[in-house]
Parts: sequence; structure tokens; C-alpha cells
Amino acid sequence: MLFPNHKSSVTNHLIMNILLLGSGGREHAIAYKLAQSKLCTNLYIAPGNAGTLQNGINVDVKVDDFEAIRQFVIEKDVEMVVVGPEAPLVAGIADFFANDSNLCNVMLLGPSKAGAMLEGSKDFAKDFMLRHNIPTARHQTFTSATLQEGLEFLKTMPAPYVLKADGLAAGKGVLILDSLEQAQDELKLMLDGKFGDASAKVVIEEFLSGIELSVFVLTDGHHYKILPSAKDYKRVGEHDTGLNTGGMGSVSPVSFADKDFMQKVEQRIVIPTVKGLRKDKIDYKGFIFIGLMNVKGDPYVIEYNVRMGDPETESVFPRIKSDVVELFEHACNKTLDQANLSIDSRTAATVMLTAHGYPEKYKKGDIITGLDAVKGSLVFHAGTARNQNFNVVTNGGRVLCVTSLAETLPQALLQCYQEAEKIQWNGKYCRKDIGQDLLAL
Ligand code: AMP
Ligand code: GLY
Repeated sequence: MLFPNHKSSVTNHLIMNILLLGSGGREHAIAYKLAQSKLCTNLYIAPGNAGTLQNGINVDVKVDDFEAIRQFVIEKDVEMVVVGPEAPLVAGIADFFANDSNLCNVMLLGPSKAGAMLEGSKDFAKDFMLRHNIPTARHQTFTSATLQEGLEFLKTMPAPYVLKADGLAAGKGVLILDSLEQAQDELKLMLDGKFGDASAKVVIEEFLSGIELSVFVLTDGHHYKILPSAKDYKRVGEHDTGLNTGGMGSVSPVSFADKDFMQKVEQRIVIPTVKGLRKDKIDYKGFIFIGLMNVKGDPYVIEYNVRMGDPETESVFPRIKSDVVELFEHACNKTLDQANLSIDSRTAATVMLTAHGYPEKYKKGDIITGLDAVKGSLVFHAGTARNQNFNVVTNGGRVLCVTSLAETLPQALLQCYQEAEKIQWNGKYCRKDIGQDLLAL
């Protein structure tokens, strides 16, 4: 028998066809773990990348093409769909499945459209936090009709000024400005459509000073499991300078997120968040990514995302020792209290290798060499493809990540940088200081 001690409703079947949506490093790391599961027979990744080919079958379907996903799921008898990025969730893929008689029995890991508003609207997320007493920065929201009030509100705030586009803005919708004049100018520009519809509403909030971390929760809407915490490195330049990127590296665990701090996170943030979703009658099965600021030992929510982080997943998922398909099944079946979450106590570090010029203009199609020489680390593909000669080539700004597990952070980092040296292409770049801020604490 597969689960001798199981009372749960987790299925005992040995064959499961799983579809993972997405194409980045996060999805490669999730695919790596899904493929390890004894419950996963066929893994499909739509659209995937050159790396996910090692773990399953790439499918030429876009993550927002719900009709094509529907046809694929029916045709291949897919029993579980794992949603990587936020866009299909915010567009309502969970509701699409729930309302279709052919799909409603398929397990879909990802919140309903109402739940995805935690990421899809910063104003909604702030109201949610206020309503459920979850610590976050003081804020107010403005529209073009209340521009004057917004300009006045800025005068009452101390510098620096934090302006956030309400909607999804490809990670670019948050501005932090030093002078009142700049902040007022930017408020006008944002309300005038700087980020299109996404900045039709702008949240102005108090600046929180501290050190950030990412906490990940898997919930079935009632119960939850806190996954390993991680820290990501967002700026392109060393010592967190230069432009914001999708993320240049990550580490897990985070040294300052000790037992005491994580207890505060659980009591003050995780429990009220899960209870709040239930009180608000929001159906939520999936990940909650809580971006936190540690302000002098107290956690404050900077943002919610409704998916795993990238490149945090590349450090977090390799540390999960439990069968992730079993975990996800429990999350979909609302039996997460019966699931077992076992975590590797070692430290994981991830170093992102990017294309020259990223996050601005960069080239695609450069041939990557040395991948086979990497032995002691995991390599997750973020932006790669195969060319017509079947060479692995660059196909994005963030190209590959090297993840290493070791007893200590310095060992994991050393391993990452040694292995990263073996991988080459024209214009390869990486930050050399991932994790150094934590070592200096
Ligand atoms: P977000 O898209 O909300 O994660 O914001 C992007 C980044 O802006 C965050 O990761 C923080 O580094 C920074 N940030 C956002 N809100 C605040 C805040 N209230 N105080 C300080 N930094 C912030
Ligand atoms: N690493 C931050 C994010 O995934 O949004």
C-alpha cells in the first residue's frame, strides 16, 4: 500500500498526469521536484524551456490560452494543474476550471480570481490587511479624480516616498522617490497612465526601513504549511545598486528569520491571512508569497503574491524533501493538515546568470557551453531555448540559475560560483555578492 498510515483523501493511484504552467527558472525548479514524485507519471510543461525538457514534455500552449489548456487537459487526461506565474491566476484560471463540467474535477493548484486579487490589486491587498489587522505600512489610495488629495497627502509623509501602481505592472510598478517634488510629478504621471490601466489607482505608502525576506505559505484555504523562507536580490548591481530586475539570486533559509521572528510571522501574518481569506469567503488553494520587511525585529507585509517567487523557488524547492505531488494533492483536497512537510536543513544558494544588458536591452540566441561540466550543483533554466542545431541558446534576460546546497551559506555560495564559471556564453553576467549581506549581519 502506498500510504500505510494515511487517513486522508489523497488518491492512491500510481499514475498521474500533471500539467505545469510557466516557462521560467521557478517552473524548472518546480518541474524538477514534480518529476521526482512517485505519483507523477507524465509531466507536461506549457510552454516550458530548454531545461524543463529534462523533467517532462514541453507543450506549445500559452499560459493565458485557457481554451487550449482546456483541450490539452481533456486530451491527455491531466489530473493536476500547477500554475507557476500570476497572470493566469489573476485572469481567473481557477474559476475557469471550476465552472467547466469537464475540468471541475481536475486538481488545480492556484487561487480563485478573487484570491489572486491579493497580487492583482495593491489597493485590495491593503484593504485586506487593514480589515484583518495584519501589520503593513500606513497608506492611502488615489485616482485621477482625487489627484489633488494625493498631492496634499504626499506633503504629510516623510521622505522617501513609496508610490505603487495598483495593478500588475510587470514588476515595475513600485517607485521609491527621495524628493517631494519627484513624488508629486510621478503621481501625476502614474495617474495619467504611465503604467496603463495598472496605475489608474495609485497606492501611496509609508516607507519601511529594514531588511526584506520572502515567506512562502502553501494553503488549502483552511490549513497551511509554511515553506522555507528565502531572500532574493533584486537589483542588477552589486550591493543592491542599479536597476531593479526579476531577481539576481536567492538564499534559503534567511539567517535573521529565526524561530522567534518566524513565530511573529506566523501569529501576526500567516494565521490572520488564512483566516481572513476564509472570513471573506475567498476560495484559496495554492501558494501565498508574503514579501516582508523586518523592521527592528517586527515583520510588516510589503506585498502579497499569489505564486512562488522567482528566483526564491530555485532555493526553496530543492530544500523540500517531501513528495510535492502529495503535498499539492492535500492542498487541492483541503487536507493539508494531514500532509507531511519535511525540509532539508542545509542552506541553498542560487546565483542567476544573465545576458549582458539585462534588465534593459539584451541579445538572444547566444550558444551556451559547459552545462554538462556542472556536477555538484543544480542548474535551472530561466530563459533558454534550443536552436535548429539543438544547441542550448540564451532566450531571455535571466538565462540560467545555479543552485547549491551545503551545510553553510559560504560553502553553498562558493560552490555556486565555482560551478557558474564552467558555464559560458558571450556576455554572461552574474552578481558576485549574493548572500554577503546576510554573512555581514
Ligand atoms: P513590491 O512590488 O511591492 O514588492 O515592491 C518592490 C520593492 O519596493 C520591494 O521589494 C521593496 O524593496 C520596495 N518597497 C515596497 N514597498 C515598500 C515600503 N513600504 N517601504 C520600503 N520599501 C518598499
Ligand atoms: N522574487 C520576487 C518575485 O518573484 O516577485
